[in-house]
Amino acid sequence: MQATASAHLHRDHHLFSSSFLLRSPKPRRPPATAVRMSLREDGPSVAVVGVTGAVGQEFLSVLSDRDFPYRSIKMLASRRSAGKKLSFEDREYVVEELRPESFDGVDIALFSAGGSISKDMAPAAVERGAIVVDNSSAFRMVPEVPLVIPEVNPEAMAHIRLKGRSGKGALIANPNCSTIICLMAATPLHRHAKVVRMVVSTYQAASGAGAAAMEELELQTREVLDGKQPTCKIFRQQYAFNLFSHNAPVQANGYNEEEMKLVKETRKIWNDTDVKVTATCIRVPVMRAHAESVNLQFEKPLDEDTARQILKEAAGVVVIDDRASNHFPTPLEVSNKDDVAVGRIRQDFSQDGNLGLDIFVCGDQIRKGAALNAIQIAELLLQ
Ligand SMILES: NC(=O)c1ccc[n+]([C@@H]2O[C@H](COP(=O)([O-])OP(=O)(O)OC[C@H]3O[C@@H](n4cnc5c(N)ncnc54)[C@H](OP(=O)(O)O)[C@@H]3O)[C@@H](O)[C@H]2O)c1
Repeated sequence: MQATASAHLHRDHHLFSSSFLLRSPKPRRPPATAVRMSLREDGPSVAVVGVTGAVGQEFLSVLSDRDFPYRSIKMLASRRSAGKKLSFEDREYVVEELRPESFDGVDIALFSAGGSISKDMAPAAVERGAIVVDNSSAFRMVPEVPLVIPEVNPEAMAHIRLKGRSGKGALIANPNCSTIICLMAATPLHRHAKVVRMVVSTYQAASGAGAAAMEELELQTREVLDGKQPTCKIFRQQYAFNLFSHNAPVQANGYNEEEMKLVKETRKIWNDTDVKVTATCIRVPVMRAHAESVNLQFEKPLDEDTARQILKEAAGVVVIDDRASNHFPTPLEVSNKDDVAVGRIRQDFSQDGNLGLDIFVCGDQIRKGAALNAIQIAELLLQ
């Protein structure tokens, strides 16, 4: 988040202690003097739940970048933030404490305040007629809740639109960030040759664990370089100059919850209960944007040149695959970008008959993995 961004909290807020957030370059932002078209009487009334968090702040950036039309915006967070001032598109807002009544008159509620808040408050929002787009895992696997990546399965929410809903609320879930980034690259190939098995290894950034985790990585890095003991509050172990198995709880089957999300969500999004998925999720000391190594096994042959061409033509995907200069996707290169980058596209020679491919994918998980995907869903609601 930049100091010059049109969406930001005033400087007394904790987010501004992270110079990494401040330094991130933002693409495509219009000049500050540009006349904003987003505030429109005929637009929906929007609520952003968790507006002070990493994803909440990105919601505001994405709404602004995409000129998402809105009649009004409610800025909602916990009691701790109530009363804080926040400027967005040249207007000043006061953060309000989240309550069920917050959703009176709200058309679209963008939730990113954690699973327990979503479980508590999303039903209250739906009851009051809001369409909730939820970033948490709370409702993703509920059969009647669509789990949507707009480039992949927009049809899953075809029955939910703002027009003609006559005050009826609904819930749509945003998939897990690692799942979104993986499937943005894997789906175009899946459509061509049908994936039968997928092996995913992730390299996940601090940003995936929220603003406080980003601050802790920065603090630990300074502390270790200064020869001090690193402060370990969020992850309970040294993160700077280290990596470790994802912090999600480990289940009885030995997989952690993050890994199982990749397994279960892929099946739901592809509407394919047979696809075999396995994953190993690792936290790496990268500030922002996840990387994933993905091994694919297909039902039909798919050579690497065809795969590269398919990916070049895929919406929301950019190919960075320069073998001669050893230039492939990196988290830094995709930070603050909308597109998911794919490279290292190569035949998996352990599989015969062109039935396997290896790819390496990077995506900004606060953006495409969370806020951007949710706002693309909200854009579909306006159609
Ligand atoms: N970070 C990612 O890349 C990512 C990706 C996909 C999904 N998500 C999901 O998005 C959610 C938020 O993630 P984040 O990374 O933005 O976390 P974060 O930076 O820690 O922000 C959490 C937000 O939730 C608010 N909140 C906490 N308790 C609340 C309460 N009782 N009532 C109302 N608001 C409350 C916080 O408000 P205060 O500032 O007032 O405490 C803050 O605005 C999580 O469910 C996460 O799993 C995150």
